[in-house]
Amino acid sequence: MALIGVFDSGIGGLTVLKVLALEFPAHDFIYLGDTARLPYGTKSAATIRKYSEQIIENLIHQKVDAIVIACNSASSQVPEKSWNGIPVFNVIGPGSRLAVQKTISKRIGVLGTRATIASDIYAHRIQNLMPEAQVFSQSCPLFVPLVEEAWIEDPISNLIVYRYLQPLLQNNIDTLVLGCTHYPLLKSAIQRTCGSSVELIDSGSAIAEEMKSILPGESAKSGSEQKIKFLATDLSPHTQAWAEQVFAPLEFDSIEIMDLV
Ligand code: DGL
Repeated sequence: MALIGVFDSGIGGLTVLKVLALEFPAHDFIYLGDTARLPYGTKSAATIRKYSEQIIENLIHQKVDAIVIACNSASSQVPEKSWNGIPVFNVIGPGSRLAVQKTISKRIGVLGTRATIASDIYAHRIQNLMPEAQVFSQSCPLFVPLVEEAWIEDPISNLIVYRYLQPLLQNNIDTLVLGCTHYPLLKSAIQRTCGSSVELIDSGSAIAEEMKSILPGESAKSGSEQKIKFLATDLSPHTQAWAEQVFAPLEFDSIEIMDLV
């Protein structure tokens, strides 16, 4: 049995935690959402790095066995490596590898926050894996507030999705990386706009799939129930209710507010 730390700038990373918790019922999880400092995606690379390193140190202090950076903006700034012997994984590699596996036309789109798109990390990683691939990137800064507001199936969200995706779709992509924790929650609107010929890549599901070869399987835990702790640096009633809704049907064993500074 292992204790896995998962972190994000907010609650969007619960889309990743949910896949991991369902996939690995033999392991316990601590989720840390830096809701007090959300969004990361509009901040500078240096600030995102500083916040992320602070969270990694904090999770290591809580004796996690491994850390998954669910946040794409943080993943774009923090390389996968071992921190004081604790392996730190991020979502860029798994999302890129899955996109390369799925594309036929080798024309791949990437959506992300301004920070993720400015880092160009997905394009680099995809082209390292498939040099002939053409990558078309689009930042979608309005998607995060829409999701935080829980406007998932709303006419305004549909319009905004259309507005960001229309220019990207002119490039005849066949694969689209949802390079942000929040975007899987807008998946139906995104898929409707793209049509069924475009395959959506959810970086959370991609990392959960790859973690199967890293984490020991179900038999690793004997007896006790899986424990999932939710920590946030700020928790308004709206944030808590939305977090519980995003995580349903799973439930947190505890919910706590914590100070990072
Ligand atoms: N978690 C961020 C990401 O995946 C989105 C929210 C933010 O901008 O902080 O890039």
